[in-house]
Amino acid sequence: MAGERVLGIETSCDETSAAVLAFQDGRLALESLVILSQDVHAVFGGVVPELASRAHLQTVGRVVDRALSDAGTTVDGIDGIAVTAGPGLIGALLVGLTYGKTLAWRAGLPMIGVHHLEGHLFAPTLEHPDLAPPFVALLVSGGHTLLLEVRAWDDYRLLGQTRDDAAGEAFDKVGKLLGLGYPAGPEIERLAREGTPGQFRFPRPMLGAEGPDRFAFSFSGLKTSVRRAVATSGNLDHDRRDIARGFQEAVVDVLTQKTIAAAQESDLDTIVLGGGVACNRALTEAMVERAGSATRVVNASPRLNADNAAMIAAAGSWRLRRGETSAWSLEASDRMPLPGLSTEHQHSQRMTA
Ligand code: KG4
Ligand code: ZN
Repeated sequence: MAGERVLGIETSCDETSAAVLAFQDGRLALESLVILSQDVHAVFGGVVPELASRAHLQTVGRVVDRALSDAGTTVDGIDGIAVTAGPGLIGALLVGLTYGKTLAWRAGLPMIGVHHLEGHLFAPTLEHPDLAPPFVALLVSGGHTLLLEVRAWDDYRLLGQTRDDAAGEAFDKVGKLLGLGYPAGPEIERLAREGTPGQFRFPRPMLGAEGPDRFAFSFSGLKTSVRRAVATSGNLDHDRRDIARGFQEAVVDVLTQKTIAAAQESDLDTIVLGGGVACNRALTEAMVERAGSATRVVNASPRLNADNAAMIAAAGSWRLRRGETSAWSLEASDRMPLPGLSTEHQHSQRMTA
Protein backbone atom coordinates (compact mmCIF):
# COMPACT_ATOMS: atom_id res chain seq x y z
CA MET A 1 0.00 0.00 0.00
CA ALA A 2 1.26 3.46 -0.94
CA GLY A 3 1.22 4.99 2.53
CA GLU A 4 2.54 2.03 4.50
CA ARG A 5 6.11 3.17 4.83
CA VAL A 6 6.80 6.72 3.78
CA LEU A 7 10.04 8.57 3.35
CA GLY A 8 9.53 12.27 4.18
CA ILE A 9 11.80 15.07 2.98
CA GLU A 10 11.69 18.69 4.17
CA THR A 11 13.93 21.51 2.89
CA SER A 12 11.64 24.57 2.87
CA CYS A 13 13.83 26.80 5.02
CA ASP A 14 17.02 26.20 7.00
CA GLU A 15 16.61 22.60 8.14
CA THR A 16 17.55 19.66 5.92
CA SER A 17 15.41 16.84 7.22
CA ALA A 18 14.37 13.31 6.30
CA ALA A 19 12.26 10.74 8.14
CA VAL A 20 10.84 7.25 7.73
CA LEU A 21 7.30 6.76 8.99
CA ALA A 22 5.44 3.46 9.01
CA PHE A 23 1.68 3.01 9.16
CA GLN A 24 0.79 -0.33 10.73
CA ASP A 25 -2.39 -1.59 12.34
CA GLY A 26 -3.95 1.86 12.05
CA ARG A 27 -1.05 3.57 13.83
CA LEU A 28 1.87 5.73 12.81
CA ALA A 29 5.32 4.64 13.96
CA LEU A 30 8.25 6.99 13.47
CA GLU A 31 11.19 4.79 12.48
CA SER A 32 13.75 7.55 11.98
CA LEU A 33 14.10 11.31 11.93
CA VAL A 34 17.20 13.27 10.93
CA ILE A 35 17.20 17.07 11.24
CA LEU A 36 20.29 18.94 10.11
CA SER A 37 20.05 22.61 11.12
CA GLN A 38 22.04 25.09 9.08
CA ASP A 39 24.05 27.08 11.61
CA VAL A 40 25.53 29.35 8.96
CA HIS A 41 22.56 31.77 9.11
CA ALA A 42 23.18 32.65 12.76
CA VAL A 43 26.05 34.95 11.81
CA PHE A 44 23.83 36.84 9.35
CA GLY A 45 20.95 37.44 11.76
CA GLY A 46 18.46 35.65 9.49
CA VAL A 47 18.16 33.02 6.79
CA VAL A 48 20.14 33.82 3.62
CA PRO A 49 18.18 32.02 0.86
CA GLU A 50 21.15 31.45 -1.43
CA LEU A 51 23.19 29.87 1.36
CA ALA A 52 20.23 27.75 2.42
CA SER A 53 19.81 26.24 -1.06
CA ARG A 54 23.50 25.53 -1.32
CA ALA A 55 23.61 23.82 2.07
CA HIS A 56 20.54 21.69 1.24
CA LEU A 57 22.20 20.66 -2.00
CA GLN A 58 25.33 19.56 -0.18
CA THR A 59 23.56 17.55 2.52
CA VAL A 60 20.16 16.30 1.32
CA GLY A 61 21.54 13.03 -0.09
CA ARG A 62 23.35 12.14 3.11
CA VAL A 63 20.43 13.16 5.31
CA VAL A 64 18.05 10.92 3.31
CA ASP A 65 20.54 8.01 3.36
CA ARG A 66 20.95 8.40 7.08
CA ALA A 67 17.18 8.43 7.71
CA LEU A 68 16.84 5.23 5.66
CA SER A 69 19.70 3.46 7.44
CA ASP A 70 18.50 4.62 10.89
CA ALA A 71 15.18 2.98 10.02
CA GLY A 72 17.07 -0.18 9.01
CA THR A 73 15.90 0.02 5.42
CA THR A 74 16.72 1.19 1.91
CA VAL A 75 14.61 2.78 -0.80
CA ASP A 76 13.44 -0.75 -1.65
CA GLY A 77 11.64 -0.92 1.68
CA ILE A 78 9.75 2.32 1.07
CA ASP A 79 6.21 2.52 -0.36
CA GLY A 80 5.97 6.23 -1.11
CA ILE A 81 7.82 9.53 -0.86
CA ALA A 82 6.39 12.71 0.67
CA VAL A 83 8.23 15.95 0.10
CA THR A 84 7.52 19.57 0.97
CA ALA A 85 6.48 21.40 -2.22
CA GLY A 86 5.73 24.79 -0.61
CA PRO A 87 5.46 27.35 0.79
CA GLY A 88 8.99 28.34 1.73
CA LEU A 89 12.18 29.60 0.13
CA ILE A 90 11.86 28.67 -3.52
CA GLY A 91 15.48 27.63 -4.05
CA ALA A 92 15.48 25.58 -0.86
CA LEU A 93 12.20 23.85 -1.74
CA LEU A 94 13.49 23.07 -5.20
CA VAL A 95 16.40 21.04 -3.81
CA GLY A 96 14.24 18.73 -1.67
CA LEU A 97 11.47 18.42 -4.23
CA THR A 98 13.82 17.59 -7.08
CA TYR A 99 15.66 15.07 -4.92
CA GLY A 100 12.40 13.44 -3.78
CA LYS A 101 10.94 13.32 -7.28
CA THR A 102 14.10 11.83 -8.74
CA LEU A 103 14.37 9.19 -6.02
CA ALA A 104 10.69 8.25 -6.43
CA TRP A 105 10.89 8.13 -10.22
CA ARG A 106 14.00 5.97 -10.20
CA ALA A 107 12.51 3.54 -7.67
CA GLY A 108 9.07 3.50 -9.30
CA LEU A 109 7.40 4.86 -6.15
CA PRO A 110 4.41 7.17 -5.78
CA MET A 111 5.35 10.69 -4.75
CA ILE A 112 3.24 13.33 -3.03
CA GLY A 113 4.02 17.02 -2.66
CA VAL A 114 3.07 18.21 0.83
CA HIS A 115 2.09 21.69 1.99
CA HIS A 116 4.47 22.70 4.78
CA LEU A 117 1.66 23.96 7.04
CA GLU A 118 -0.36 20.78 6.58
CA GLY A 119 2.78 19.09 7.88
CA HIS A 120 2.68 21.26 11.02
CA LEU A 121 -1.00 20.39 11.36
CA PHE A 122 -0.28 16.64 11.28
CA ALA A 123 2.77 16.84 13.61
CA PRO A 124 0.82 16.29 16.86
CA THR A 125 -0.67 13.04 15.47
CA LEU A 126 2.79 11.46 15.69
CA GLU A 127 2.66 11.52 19.50
CA HIS A 128 -1.11 11.63 20.01
CA PRO A 129 -2.44 8.82 17.81
CA ASP A 130 -6.01 9.38 18.97
CA LEU A 131 -6.02 12.97 17.73
CA ALA A 132 -8.60 13.42 14.98
CA PRO A 133 -10.70 16.30 13.65
CA PRO A 134 -12.80 18.23 14.37
CA PHE A 135 -10.66 20.73 16.28
CA VAL A 136 -9.44 24.30 16.17
CA ALA A 137 -5.79 24.70 15.15
CA LEU A 138 -3.43 27.57 15.77
CA LEU A 139 -0.46 27.37 13.39
CA VAL A 140 2.30 29.77 14.41
CA SER A 141 5.61 29.67 12.57
CA GLY A 142 8.25 32.02 11.22
CA GLY A 143 6.21 32.63 8.07
CA HIS A 144 2.57 32.10 9.08
CA THR A 145 -0.03 32.72 11.74
CA LEU A 146 -3.24 30.86 10.97
CA LEU A 147 -6.32 30.03 12.97
CA LEU A 148 -8.23 27.14 11.39
CA GLU A 149 -11.32 25.14 12.05
CA VAL A 150 -10.25 21.65 11.04
CA ARG A 151 -13.55 19.94 10.26
CA ALA A 152 -11.83 16.89 8.79
CA TRP A 153 -8.39 16.29 7.31
CA ASP A 154 -8.41 18.18 4.01
CA ASP A 155 -11.36 20.29 5.15
CA TYR A 156 -9.94 23.44 6.68
CA ARG A 157 -11.90 26.61 7.28
CA LEU A 158 -9.77 29.71 7.63
CA LEU A 159 -10.93 31.64 10.68
CA GLY A 160 -8.16 34.22 10.71
CA GLN A 161 -4.58 34.98 9.81
CA THR A 162 -2.02 37.71 10.30
CA ARG A 163 -2.27 40.91 8.33
CA ASP A 164 1.44 41.62 8.53
CA ASP A 165 4.18 39.81 10.46
CA ALA A 166 3.86 36.18 11.50
CA ALA A 167 4.11 35.43 15.23
CA GLY A 168 7.56 33.83 14.84
CA GLU A 169 8.71 36.73 12.71
CA ALA A 170 7.67 39.09 15.53
CA PHE A 171 9.79 37.07 17.99
CA ASP A 172 12.75 37.22 15.60
CA LYS A 173 12.41 40.97 14.89
CA VAL A 174 12.02 41.81 18.57
CA GLY A 175 15.04 39.60 19.23
CA LYS A 176 17.04 41.73 16.85
CA LEU A 177 15.90 44.90 18.66
CA LEU A 178 17.03 43.33 21.93
CA GLY A 179 20.39 42.37 20.45
CA LEU A 180 19.74 38.61 20.40
CA GLY A 181 20.79 36.04 17.81
CA TYR A 182 18.61 34.32 15.19
CA PRO A 183 16.20 32.60 15.66
CA ALA A 184 15.24 34.58 18.74
CA GLY A 185 12.13 32.72 19.92
CA PRO A 186 13.82 30.34 22.37
CA GLU A 187 16.07 33.08 23.77
CA ILE A 188 13.13 35.47 24.31
CA GLU A 189 11.29 32.67 26.09
CA ARG A 190 14.29 32.13 28.38
CA LEU A 191 14.72 35.86 29.11
CA ALA A 192 10.98 36.32 29.68
CA ARG A 193 11.05 33.65 32.37
CA GLU A 194 13.53 35.81 34.32
CA GLY A 195 11.68 39.07 33.60
CA THR A 196 9.30 40.85 35.95
CA PRO A 197 5.69 40.95 34.80
CA GLY A 198 4.10 44.40 34.49
CA GLN A 199 7.36 46.35 34.08
CA PHE A 200 6.60 46.82 30.39
CA ARG A 201 3.08 46.60 29.05
CA PHE A 202 2.64 46.43 25.32
CA PRO A 203 -0.58 46.67 23.25
CA ARG A 204 -2.62 43.57 22.37
CA PRO A 205 -3.16 44.21 18.64
CA MET A 206 -6.61 43.34 17.21
CA LEU A 207 -7.76 41.81 20.47
CA GLY A 208 -10.89 43.95 20.51
CA ALA A 209 -11.67 43.39 16.83
CA GLU A 210 -15.18 42.30 15.98
CA GLY A 211 -17.00 40.86 12.99
CA PRO A 212 -14.91 39.28 10.21
CA ASP A 213 -11.69 40.56 11.84
CA ARG A 214 -12.34 38.97 15.21
CA PHE A 215 -9.85 36.17 14.52
CA ALA A 216 -7.33 38.28 12.58
CA PHE A 217 -3.86 39.02 13.95
CA SER A 218 -1.35 41.83 13.55
CA PHE A 219 2.11 41.92 15.09
CA SER A 220 3.95 44.73 13.35
CA GLY A 221 2.58 47.46 15.65
CA LEU A 222 3.70 45.46 18.67
CA LYS A 223 7.21 45.35 17.26
CA THR A 224 7.11 49.16 16.86
CA SER A 225 6.10 49.52 20.52
CA VAL A 226 9.03 47.34 21.54
CA ARG A 227 11.35 49.45 19.37
CA ARG A 228 10.15 52.55 21.24
CA ALA A 229 10.71 50.88 24.61
CA VAL A 230 14.23 49.87 23.59
CA ALA A 231 14.98 53.37 22.32
CA THR A 232 13.84 55.02 25.55
CA SER A 233 15.44 52.49 27.87
CA GLY A 234 18.47 54.03 29.50
CA ASN A 235 19.82 50.60 30.38
CA LEU A 236 18.89 47.81 27.96
CA ASP A 237 21.03 45.28 29.83
CA HIS A 238 18.80 45.90 32.83
CA ASP A 239 15.49 46.11 30.92
CA ARG A 240 16.01 43.33 28.36
CA ARG A 241 14.37 40.59 30.41
CA ASP A 242 11.41 42.77 31.37
CA ILE A 243 10.84 43.89 27.78
CA ALA A 244 11.02 40.26 26.62
CA ARG A 245 8.50 39.37 29.31
CA GLY A 246 6.12 42.17 28.33
CA PHE A 247 6.38 41.34 24.63
CA GLN A 248 5.83 37.60 25.12
CA GLU A 249 2.85 38.24 27.39
CA ALA A 250 1.24 40.44 24.73
CA VAL A 251 1.71 37.76 22.03
CA VAL A 252 0.50 34.98 24.31
CA ASP A 253 -2.56 37.00 25.35
CA VAL A 254 -3.63 37.62 21.76
CA LEU A 255 -2.97 34.06 20.58
CA THR A 256 -4.70 32.37 23.51
CA GLN A 257 -7.75 34.62 23.67
CA LYS A 258 -8.49 34.42 19.94
CA THR A 259 -7.92 30.66 19.78
CA ILE A 260 -10.14 29.97 22.77
CA ALA A 261 -12.86 32.27 21.40
CA ALA A 262 -12.66 30.39 18.07
CA ALA A 263 -13.05 27.04 19.83
CA GLN A 264 -16.06 28.33 21.76
CA GLU A 265 -17.69 29.81 18.68
CA SER A 266 -17.11 26.62 16.68
CA ASP A 267 -18.34 24.55 19.61
CA LEU A 268 -15.15 22.45 19.62
CA ASP A 269 -13.42 21.09 22.71
CA THR A 270 -9.99 20.41 21.21
CA ILE A 271 -7.30 22.97 20.41
CA VAL A 272 -4.20 21.92 18.44
CA LEU A 273 -1.03 24.02 18.42
CA GLY A 274 1.55 23.72 15.68
CA GLY A 275 4.62 25.43 14.21
CA GLY A 276 7.88 26.64 15.74
CA VAL A 277 6.24 29.18 18.08
CA ALA A 278 4.21 26.33 19.59
CA CYS A 279 7.52 25.25 21.19
CA ASN A 280 7.00 28.21 23.54
CA ARG A 281 6.03 26.82 26.93
CA ALA A 282 4.48 30.06 28.19
CA LEU A 283 2.08 29.90 25.23
CA THR A 284 1.16 26.26 25.81
CA GLU A 285 0.76 26.70 29.56
CA ALA A 286 -1.42 29.80 29.16
CA MET A 287 -3.55 28.01 26.56
CA VAL A 288 -4.10 25.01 28.85
CA GLU A 289 -4.89 27.17 31.85
CA ARG A 290 -7.20 29.62 30.09
CA ALA A 291 -9.03 27.04 27.96
CA GLY A 292 -10.12 25.23 31.12
CA SER A 293 -10.29 21.55 31.92
CA ALA A 294 -13.16 20.88 29.52
CA THR A 295 -10.93 21.69 26.55
CA ARG A 296 -8.09 19.45 25.42
CA VAL A 297 -4.97 21.29 24.25
CA VAL A 298 -2.72 19.16 22.04
CA ASN A 299 0.82 20.10 21.15
CA ALA A 300 3.72 18.15 19.69
CA SER A 301 7.08 18.06 21.48
CA PRO A 302 9.56 20.77 20.36
CA ARG A 303 11.50 18.51 17.99
CA LEU A 304 8.31 17.78 16.05
CA ASN A 305 6.92 21.33 16.27
CA ALA A 306 9.96 22.88 14.65
CA ASP A 307 10.54 22.14 10.97
CA ASN A 308 11.09 18.42 10.42
CA ALA A 309 10.40 15.70 7.86
CA ALA A 310 8.37 13.45 10.19
CA MET A 311 5.43 15.85 9.97
CA ILE A 312 5.74 15.93 6.18
CA ALA A 313 5.74 12.12 6.12
CA ALA A 314 2.65 12.10 8.38
CA ALA A 315 0.64 14.42 6.11
CA GLY A 316 1.95 12.65 3.01
CA SER A 317 1.15 9.21 4.41
CA TRP A 318 -2.46 10.25 4.97
CA ARG A 319 -2.78 11.56 1.41
CA LEU A 320 -1.00 8.58 -0.16
CA ARG A 321 -3.20 6.14 1.77
CA ARG A 322 -6.29 7.73 0.24
CA GLY A 323 -4.78 7.20 -3.21
CA GLU A 324 -3.45 10.67 -3.92
CA THR A 325 -0.20 11.17 -5.77
CA SER A 326 1.44 14.18 -7.39
CA ALA A 327 2.38 14.39 -11.04
CA TRP A 328 6.07 14.37 -11.95
CA SER A 329 5.46 17.88 -13.29
CA LEU A 330 4.78 19.15 -9.75
CA GLU A 331 6.72 22.34 -9.15
CA ALA A 332 7.92 23.96 -5.96
CA SER A 333 5.90 27.01 -4.98
CA ASP A 334 6.77 29.73 -2.49
CA ARG A 335 3.11 30.65 -2.05
CA MET A 336 1.21 27.41 -2.42
CA PRO A 337 -2.39 27.49 -1.10
CA LEU A 338 -3.21 25.05 1.71
CA PRO A 339 -5.17 22.16 0.13
CA GLY A 340 -8.70 21.82 1.41
CA LEU A 341 -8.81 25.42 2.62
CA SER A 342 -12.05 27.33 2.46
CA THR A 343 -12.30 30.95 3.44
CA GLU A 344 -16.05 31.30 3.58
CA HIS A 345 -16.96 33.67 6.37
CA GLN A 346 -19.19 31.76 8.63
CA HIS A 347 -21.56 34.21 10.15
CA SER A 348 -23.68 31.13 10.14
CA GLN A 349 -27.00 30.48 11.79
CA ARG A 350 -25.52 30.95 15.22
CA MET A 351 -24.26 34.45 14.40
CA THR A 352 -27.26 35.69 12.44
CA ALA A 353 -30.07 33.92 14.26
O1 KG4 B 1 7.86 26.32 12.09
P1 KG4 B 1 9.26 26.85 12.19
O2 KG4 B 1 10.31 25.96 12.77
O3 KG4 B 1 9.75 27.33 10.79
C1 KG4 B 1 8.88 27.95 9.88
O4 KG4 B 1 8.08 27.23 9.23
O5 KG4 B 1 8.93 29.20 9.84
O6 KG4 B 1 9.18 28.21 13.05
C2 KG4 B 1 10.30 28.99 13.28
C3 KG4 B 1 9.90 30.15 14.15
C4 KG4 B 1 11.02 31.17 14.35
O7 KG4 B 1 10.49 32.46 14.09
C5 KG4 B 1 11.41 31.02 15.81
O8 KG4 B 1 11.88 32.20 16.42
C6 KG4 B 1 10.10 30.57 16.42
O9 KG4 B 1 9.54 29.70 15.47
N1 KG4 B 1 10.31 29.85 17.69
C7 KG4 B 1 9.82 30.28 18.88
C8 KG4 B 1 10.29 29.36 19.85
N2 KG4 B 1 11.01 28.39 19.22
C9 KG4 B 1 11.00 28.71 17.90
N3 KG4 B 1 9.09 31.35 19.19
C10 KG4 B 1 8.77 31.53 20.49
N4 KG4 B 1 9.19 30.71 21.48
C11 KG4 B 1 9.93 29.61 21.21
N5 KG4 B 1 10.34 28.80 22.20
ZN1 ZN C 1 7.55 25.47 9.68
